[in-house]
Amino acid sequence: MANPAKVEVDGKVFEFPVIEGTEGEKGIDVRDLRAKTGYITYDEAYGNTGSCQSKVTFIDGEKGILRYRGIPIEELAHGSTFVQTAYLLIFGKLPTEAERQHFSGLLTKYQMIHEDMKFHFEGFPSGAHPMAMLSAMINAAGCFIPEVMGRYDPAVFEHQAARLISQVRTLAAYAYRKSMGLPSIYPKRKYMYTENFLHMMFSEPDEDYHLNPAVVDALDLIFLLHADHEQNCSTSTVRMVASSKANLFASASAGVCALWGPLHGGANQAVIEMLEEIQIQGDDGSRFLERVKQKDGHAKLMGFGHRVYKNFDPRAQIIKKACDEMLGKLGIHDPLLDIALKLEATALKDPYFIERKLYPNVDFYSGIILKAIGIPTEMFTVIFAIGRMPGWIANYKEVAESGDSRIYRPRQIYQGPIQNPYVPIEQR
Ligand code: ACO
Repeated sequence: MANPAKVEVDGKVFEFPVIEGTEGEKGIDVRDLRAKTGYITYDEAYGNTGSCQSKVTFIDGEKGILRYRGIPIEELAHGSTFVQTAYLLIFGKLPTEAERQHFSGLLTKYQMIHEDMKFHFEGFPSGAHPMAMLSAMINAAGCFIPEVMGRYDPAVFEHQAARLISQVRTLAAYAYRKSMGLPSIYPKRKYMYTENFLHMMFSEPDEDYHLNPAVVDALDLIFLLHADHEQNCSTSTVRMVASSKANLFASASAGVCALWGPLHGGANQAVIEMLEEIQIQGDDGSRFLERVKQKDGHAKLMGFGHRVYKNFDPRAQIIKKACDEMLGKLGIHDPLLDIALKLEATALKDPYFIERKLYPNVDFYSGIILKAIGIPTEMFTVIFAIGRMPGWIANYKEVAESGDSRIYRPRQIYQGPIQNPYVPIEQR
């Protein structure tokens, strides 16, 4: 047990226990700070705040380590599939063959959305962003399962989790087809998880989409690499909502909203838009980088930088290799990739980026793969949401299973006007 931390306030010394994680990271347990001292901590954007103790994912941002349930991301990317990785995250262990078959069976069982949900899709205007539809439809999907509204029950949770992982893919494909004015395509039992998603996206009622294994593998890898990432904005949102005892589907729907922003899941879309803009301007990236460094118009090199990774993002290294391989197999030469490579090489040598420890993140290359597959840019963040679903579910489960969990409720330092009398409207 580490020595307690001492904090001196108003001339008095208070002791607080130090907690240590299994990987040696230390935190000062300040849960009774306010009760003891009358003070709170101030940590806007939570850069130094541990909001929970979790057993799901470990990141060492300095060393570029990412592990799901202790297993390095590189090993999972090499040997696992998205569905097995989802099982690992949610249930804490890799599935045996029997467990894999059972879980895959549940994914197939729940792959159809309720037929009435088609009427919900009808209500969206054409051109509605698929992330808006996805968030709304995940919440709506919960309405078709009476038991989801009840208390957390481990006996039915496996079914709810499988239903959500399976249906997010169906809803995502339907949202895309709706936004394009295309007829929705039903899933097929014979397809594996990622194959089925591509089928629902790109098949037509009169012709099945040709599934290229290089494309299926690359997309499955993107799902796997995005499957969890510790206490990021969307996962914290899911835990926050879950802490109020809201149901799994409502909590996941909130996660989709948090993911949508360009500083989070929206970055892969923003990367492609940035590369296209550079290309339209006839720039090779150098003029754009100058603007970024001068903070001209708040331009940022999208796909660079990370709150946690300060040396490299291990997912970016895996995905860069996968991107090269997939484009090679498909025989695609994308000029945007040339711009991306030039930007990366220049930025990695530039003092601005070196001093601020800014390196490519996973989104720098995932957008190029998705573009090559034919996924439209508005769907990029939706792909991220499909991938992140197991992580949200695993974190939801952790909150639901922690017996002493209290509702998440941060405090604030109030800086508004001090007490003022109410002035009647005729005297203002
Ligand atoms: N391009 C240019 N400058 C940057 C970038 C960037 N991509 N990222 C950070 N900086 C600069 C900031 O302007 C700041 O500069 P200053 O010290 O002169 O003020 C400094 O680096 C520190 O940046 P912060 O914003 O404090 O870093 P923070 O940890 O809060 O933000 C974030 C991390 C949001 C990822 C940021 O790097 C960013 O906006 N990147 C671009 C968007 C992106 O790629 N997001 C995807 C994240 S990964 C994911 O969600 C899967």
